[in-house]
Amino acid sequence: MTKSKDKEPWLRSQEWFAPDNLRSFAHRQRMQQVGYSREEFLDVPVVGVFVSWNGFSTCHSHLRERATAVMRGIRQSGGLPIEFPVMSLGEVMVKPTSMLYRNLMAIEVEEMLRSHPFDAAVLMGGCDKTVPGLVMGALSADIPFLFLPAGAALGGNWNGEKVGAGTHTKIFWDQYRSGVLSKEKWVELESAMIRSAGTCNTMGTASTMAIAMDALGLCVAGASTIPAVDSAHERMCFLSGQCSVSLAKEGRSPLKFLSRAHFKNAIRVICACGGSTNALIHLIAIAGRAGITLDLDDFDSIARETPILVDLMPAGSHLMQDFHFAGGMPTLLSRLKPFLDEATLTVENKTLGSFIDSAQSGDANIIRKLDDPVSNGPAFAVLRGNLAPFGAVIKPSSMDKSLMRHCGKAIVFNGPEDLASRIDDPNLEVDANSVLVLRGGGPINGPGMPEWGNLPIPKKLLRLGIKDMVRLSDARMSGTHFGACVLHISSESPEHGNLALVRDGDLISVDVERRSIELRVGPEELEQRRVLLSCSISASDPIPSSQRGYLSLHKKHVEQAHQGCDFDFLKGFTPLEKPRIF
Ligand code: FES
Repeated sequence: MTKSKDKEPWLRSQEWFAPDNLRSFAHRQRMQQVGYSREEFLDVPVVGVFVSWNGFSTCHSHLRERATAVMRGIRQSGGLPIEFPVMSLGEVMVKPTSMLYRNLMAIEVEEMLRSHPFDAAVLMGGCDKTVPGLVMGALSADIPFLFLPAGAALGGNWNGEKVGAGTHTKIFWDQYRSGVLSKEKWVELESAMIRSAGTCNTMGTASTMAIAMDALGLCVAGASTIPAVDSAHERMCFLSGQCSVSLAKEGRSPLKFLSRAHFKNAIRVICACGGSTNALIHLIAIAGRAGITLDLDDFDSIARETPILVDLMPAGSHLMQDFHFAGGMPTLLSRLKPFLDEATLTVENKTLGSFIDSAQSGDANIIRKLDDPVSNGPAFAVLRGNLAPFGAVIKPSSMDKSLMRHCGKAIVFNGPEDLASRIDDPNLEVDANSVLVLRGGGPINGPGMPEWGNLPIPKKLLRLGIKDMVRLSDARMSGTHFGACVLHISSESPEHGNLALVRDGDLISVDVERRSIELRVGPEELEQRRVLLSCSISASDPIPSSQRGYLSLHKKHVEQAHQGCDFDFLKGFTPLEKPRIF
């Protein structure tokens, strides 16, 4: 083992390369097998460039090329870059849902970082679950890292109309189902809406998680809003490579500086952007890996006092590139200054406050000022009651305000197949006051909590011009979508909640102002239903039980939505022993 000449901390990688023994001889030999010279890896910080890419991960199709810019930055700063492909979760292609594999990705990243001679890592990702998957794993490995966001795709434009990924897909789908949009136009839209590599260009989950990483100080300042195909993105990659070498030399893992204040800043920022409800699950899980407690009440209380300032779809009318050119994160942070803890540190070893100091005044039409917000919010509201004893989430900024206080009769669907087969049945007894209920979409039963929570409006109501109605589920909803959807109902199980006990015709009341959700059925009746249900479950076991493989592990260990859906054995921070190198 060697020590750097200028008294920098021990380089972890040198425990593989430096000793004069048989095993280290083999390590040096294998590096030279692929053409490295001894001086390239001896006493040099080794940085893993974790590229999350595959052929179905279409939002990341530019990342392989961008990895070369990251590696330029690492070499320019005196480090050795090692490109390291990791799992990628293309949000649209992975079934039943990419969320099922978020924790698997985190396990891969943690174990690969720990078991190889890395001194630091650059984590390249962006499409929804890749962000928490990469960051959760790297936090648990406790190795210095920074996150590099893929950037949003170019803004969509169709016949002169600004169209957003996901948001307009849903709008056009409803138009097509109700007969307003022709089949010819619907097919034309397939190739017209997503114009380049990059993540969804609205304030969907990918954009929400990217700006959260920026506010947490886990990427180079301002990286999160740079469009994927802008040349500034490549320069940001180079800078990220340089920054990673400093992190490696200093041995500065984010666990050394992350605090609850960082997470509160991140929540504040996503509230001001009308961010995705998925962020509640992911940030709770990420904080959990750092040993920091975060819960739904943190989101509710911060959302209550945070106006929505950035005019972005789905809550507003603009796209990520508009946000970037209106001033991006520095301008938003400067607007939010009175609410932020400016002393939080970043991967660049600067304070968030120094980032704010560099802000331009920006475009106040897109990044509004506190006295002229898009709306007073809240971006999120956490509901509780006998239907969601551990909590459920709704997005008041993206729903019909007349539904904020609502009581209606339940129409229950047991899973997506049941929903698809009956929702457009002309004989379905549904009206605009009905409450559509979907169950079987939770972390265990989905499995993986798919984005089924934005239940379609029945065709016959669409034709009457109904655009929103109250919908409830234990599932999630795409961050790009909108509507009066009560999501993440916890717990999904009949032992710890009443979602499984709802029957057609039951009255359900939702009051966003009071943060309540109630199934108006008496406790005795509910207990009778619970006993009946437990008898029928034990007789028929309607949920296919997985006896083997990853699915079995997931079902045994995944926690509920209000806890972040991490595996119980991965939560918290416990320093693990270094691998034994012999
Ligand atoms: Fe990849 Fe939306 S599908 S970010």
